[in-house]
Amino acid sequence: MTRDIEDEIRDEKNPRPLDEDDIALLKTYVSNPLSASYSVRAIEGLSDLALGESSLVKVASFRGLSPYSAANKKVEKEIKELAKRINDLCGIKESDTGLALPSQWDLVSDKQMMQEEQPLQVARCTKIISPNTEDAKYVINVKQIAKFVVGLGDKVSPTDIEEGMRVGVDRTKYQIQIPLPPKIDPSVTMMTVEEKPDVTYNDVGGCKEQIEKMREVVELPMLHPEKFVKLGIDPPKGVLCYGPPGTGKTLLARAVANRTDACFIRVIGSELVQKYVGEGARMVRELFQMARSKKACIVFFDEVDAIGGARFDDGVGGDNEVQRTMLEIVNQLDGFDARGNIKVLMATNRPDTLDPALLRPGRLDRKVEFGLPDLESRTQIFKIHTRTMNCERDIRFELLARLCPNSTGADIRSVCTEAGMYAIRARRKTVTEKDFLDAVNKVIKGYQKFSATPKYMVYN
Ligand SMILES: Nc1ncnc2c1ncn2[C@@H]1O[C@H](COP(=O)(O)OP(=O)(O)O)[C@@H](O)[C@H]1O
Ligand SMILES: [Mg+2]
Repeated sequence: MTRDIEDEIRDEKNPRPLDEDDIALLKTYVSNPLSASYSVRAIEGLSDLALGESSLVKVASFRGLSPYSAANKKVEKEIKELAKRINDLCGIKESDTGLALPSQWDLVSDKQMMQEEQPLQVARCTKIISPNTEDAKYVINVKQIAKFVVGLGDKVSPTDIEEGMRVGVDRTKYQIQIPLPPKIDPSVTMMTVEEKPDVTYNDVGGCKEQIEKMREVVELPMLHPEKFVKLGIDPPKGVLCYGPPGTGKTLLARAVANRTDACFIRVIGSELVQKYVGEGARMVRELFQMARSKKACIVFFDEVDAIGGARFDDGVGGDNEVQRTMLEIVNQLDGFDARGNIKVLMATNRPDTLDPALLRPGRLDRKVEFGLPDLESRTQIFKIHTRTMNCERDIRFELLARLCPNSTGADIRSVCTEAGMYAIRARRKTVTEKDFLDAVNKVIKGYQKFSATPKYMVYN
């Protein structure tokens, strides 16, 4: 049928415009999904030919373009051209570049000013001679030049300068002009989480006990340190979260980060593995240095097995560097006061491979297991993940939870997504219970091969 129309039109030199009947005919093709591809092809063939304007508009609207889109495009183009012309005529304003008019420039005096204000040099104040007196002197060490005994510049007061501090000195008399903050690797500074993640404890299904334990260690010592002082015990320094993948370890840490006002530093174990000897350990040192400079701080090492593996000798020494990094963490864990405001969280799914030195009480006292969620937790996780979905009213989540034995939170989330996909495929706007049942069949039964949980049930 479509061939007929095409041939007919090609044959004619002056094609005749489509009439109402033709349009109606074309519409029947589109409403039938099987022949949709045909009709589109037919229309494409048609629109190449000259058609009457009205039918062209009709055909265009037929293909999903609005009848006015061509006109709109034209007007938009004209507006763009006009705006460009206006800009050209006005010239670029000074406010755009931040410069004054060239006629007002005074290059000579600018140059002079820049010469007077020479850049400072970075030095380290190694010692203060007779501190807290009128004639205190400072020993500074300028790297690769020499050591000097100098005084203070006009703008610094003696209270600003401490021993071992980085300072800025001028280039003529080497007087101390400005105290500088400690040098911290930019990649370490980047690890601070500034934007709070939008996960709250309400988004974590089940895991009641784990949340409780975590809060006890993280929040209690920070909010009520006096309780620990009175009893005379040290609060735990850190927590190790372990359990199969997808049970919400990272999720809970994110909820903790959202909850506290403390600075939250997130480190992925593999970030600390560096190319050069000693770099990883230095990063750990700088990380804790930065943490100590904050009022309260939580350091979260995710996937800590990347660096925390048990020490062994492979005969080549390839992994020594990784082990050194881990030892620096151990060292830093010992270094800070437990009542201080640094808490260390670690997460891993291979607790059995970690070095015992890392785990010994006094370093990471608490070990929180994230097990597979039980029936009630699974129901709750289903409810959490369907909260934003457009579901039918009375879905029996408990039944669904019953159908997913031994599955993790991540599995359940995948089930919800898959149910949504079924609904999309069937062009429905809401997700029905049948979709969920199909999804359970597909994800839980079908992907059993990939499931890591049986393997982990051995370890835990
Ligand atoms: N207890 C849970 N409650 C709600 N969602 C969960 C839960 N556990 C896992 N999930 C879902 O699984 C995803 C992956 O979990 P995650 O915490 O990253 O796993 P891991 O324990 O391997 O770090 C989370 O983003 C979340 O959507
Ligand atoms: Mg994780």
